[in-house]
Amino acid sequence: MSLEMSVSGSHGTLGPGPPGWRSRLQAWRARQVARPAFRRFVQRLPLSRAFSRAREEELFSIVTGFVRSQILFAALQSGLIDAVAGGPATVRDLAHATGFSEDRLQRLLQAAQSIRLVRLGTDGYVTLADHGAVVQSDEGIRAMIRHHALLYRDLSDPVALFGGTQTDTELRRLWSYAGAGRESSVQPGAAAAYSELMTASQSMLADEILQAYDFRRHKRLLDVGGGEGVFVAAVAERHPVLKLSLFELPPVADRARARFSSRPLGQCPRCYGGSFLDDPLPRGHDCVTLVRVLFDHEDAVVLRLLRNVRAAMDPGQTLVIAEPMAGNQSEGQRLSTGYFGVYVMAMGSGRCRTPEEIVGLAHAAGFSGFEIRPCRSPLMATLVVARP
Ligand SMILES: C[S@@+](CC[C@H](N)C(=O)[O-])C[C@H]1O[C@@H](n2cnc3c(N)ncnc32)[C@H](O)[C@@H]1O
Repeated sequence: MSLEMSVSGSHGTLGPGPPGWRSRLQAWRARQVARPAFRRFVQRLPLSRAFSRAREEELFSIVTGFVRSQILFAALQSGLIDAVAGGPATVRDLAHATGFSEDRLQRLLQAAQSIRLVRLGTDGYVTLADHGAVVQSDEGIRAMIRHHALLYRDLSDPVALFGGTQTDTELRRLWSYAGAGRESSVQPGAAAAYSELMTASQSMLADEILQAYDFRRHKRLLDVGGGEGVFVAAVAERHPVLKLSLFELPPVADRARARFSSRPLGQCPRCYGGSFLDDPLPRGHDCVTLVRVLFDHEDAVVLRLLRNVRAAMDPGQTLVIAEPMAGNQSEGQRLSTGYFGVYVMAMGSGRCRTPEEIVGLAHAAGFSGFEIRPCRSPLMATLVVARP
């Protein structure tokens, strides 16, 4: 999709006029759904019965969602999933491996079976089921499951979090650069904590981006806010002739240098340390990428960053922005909107934006020639491609 926009900022300031017919119809529909008599009527008709059953199950799965995520956490953290991976195992083996009593382990196994982590065979042996096999073998997913314990703690009083009265959050402490002016105080220990998580989760994302955008057309790429360099390493593997650089806060740039130190000099991406808000970015790159960077920041900061990126680019070069974006078109987009919106709110900085909002900010920073490219999984990323 190609688009140009005239822009007045990413959030409207004028209030809406009177409600349109769709909103009035939706309000009427909600009043009907709220009536038990209407729901009983819907249950009697074969077609609407299936629809209403599906809605019922969806609501129930939302209500039980937290419980299921805790079963997953317990199965991983107790060592159950790794212990089962060794092959068919008995309950006694698993009780020994996890340190649980056999009775408690039976309960965890039953719960884990309900979310397809394990299978309890009629022969008395336990094996991994599909989700269990994926979780067991994927470092990125394991790191994300463990990391979510922080988010759940921040969500223990969701009304306070949404209402803005709970601001001292675990995620704010972890993402030590997020929030006005905090980037200058990031110390190596704090950088290590968040960078390790980003590193573990980046390989799934890099595949999605490389599938949605062909970097072969470029000669020199600069990844701004590129973490420890997992994304540039994935690009290098796919396109070995591309010259790669990344720009990061000094402690993270040091980690990236250390990661690449064993490579022969010619194949080592160049790692620049500095602040993408205050320092000039290196010039001479026909492609600049911003991967999972904008959604950490409020609009004013994003605008400052995009203007700085624009200042380092010449006409004919390309900016690729990749991150989870908001939308209402598909289930994946709705999930991305809800999940990342809450995540960055718990961080205390940032916003999950629609591609059009990102286009608006990039336009205000001096970019044009926009393209929006979906990735296979909208939960991972959508791309906005722009030209200076
Ligand atoms: C969410 S992480 C994404 C890292 C990487 N692009 C990825 O997708 O794995 C955002 C990155 O932006 C970097 N960052 C934040 N503020 C910065 C600043 N002012 N200058 C340079 N880098 C910054 C952080 O150090 C962090 O590594």
